[in-house]
Amino acid sequence: MARTEGDSWDLASSVGATATMVAAQRALGHREGMIDDPWAEPLVRAVGADFFVRMLDGDVDFADLDPAFTVRRAAEGMAVRTRWFDQMFLDAAASGVRQAVILAAGLDARGYRLAWPAGTTVYEVDQPEVIAFKTATLEGLGASPTATHRTVAIDLREDWPAALREAGFDPSQPTAWSAEGLLIYLPSDAQDRLFDLITELSAPGSSLATEYVPDIDAFLGDRAKALTDRMKEMGSDIEMGDLVYHGDRHNVIDYLTGKGWTVTAAAARDAHEANGFDFPDDAMSAAFGDLSYVRARLG
Ligand SMILES: C[S@@+](CC[C@H](N)C(=O)[O-])C[C@H]1O[C@@H](n2cnc3c(N)ncnc32)[C@H](O)[C@@H]1O
Repeated sequence: MARTEGDSWDLASSVGATATMVAAQRALGHREGMIDDPWAEPLVRAVGADFFVRMLDGDVDFADLDPAFTVRRAAEGMAVRTRWFDQMFLDAAASGVRQAVILAAGLDARGYRLAWPAGTTVYEVDQPEVIAFKTATLEGLGASPTATHRTVAIDLREDWPAALREAGFDPSQPTAWSAEGLLIYLPSDAQDRLFDLITELSAPGSSLATEYVPDIDAFLGDRAKALTDRMKEMGSDIEMGDLVYHGDRHNVIDYLTGKGWTVTAAAARDAHEANGFDFPDDAMSAAFGDLSYVRARLG
């Protein structure tokens, strides 16, 4: 179903299911020893969505559709992404930043798995059902946050800065921000507003990690559609072409630069190589076009 203003979801439906999808990829990356995220697999199994459980059980195979699209490749792609964002947080922490905000946190378990320095507060922002499910599930699994942990259950199209401040966020302190796997699910004006608000809330010394997907319409292409159809046959109801916002939007790198951030970016292909992986020529990679991983620092 296409997106609507004020739409909401849990981790098995609409945009929420994409959080389960990337967590399943992280679970595979963890199994392969590429990243350290022990919570991804139990979280995905707790969501219980059939397609992703089958993926973890090794029952999903796309080789007939596209021989380049293997489970190992899916794990490698997510490992590249996870390491990029982990590194920003670790570098920010090493430079003395003690406040982190994970926007659109989904099933991100960084608040429970990264070695945050003492005195760090990690804020997680996402829709209420997503936050409630993850927090309760991790508690049930016996996971303990590795920093002071605060959840902010709100839609990012609402007044999230007010909710963040209410949770204790201090804009006079530098912050490490992530907007991972989020921008394509926001309309273009909401993407701009997100970066305007982050900039307003960022003291000098703040850092940010995100991605830039220049060709969102690739989600409507034949290769992406074939992949979506195959996933549907295997029990998924994710329709990426319907979940993302199409049309022109600002180049993230230029936009942040214009707001005073010092930006560095790595094309996905280069980031794969830097991590010792070949860049895959599969349908999913094609759908993400010329994605770049982006890091920015203020002041
Ligand atoms: C692909 S998932 C990424 C989750 C997480 N950042 C990660 O990389 O594992 C997209 C996430 O964005 C969140 N999201 C998208 N639009 C949102 C909005 N308007 N308000 C709050 N959360 C939103 C979804 O709930 C979901 O958790």
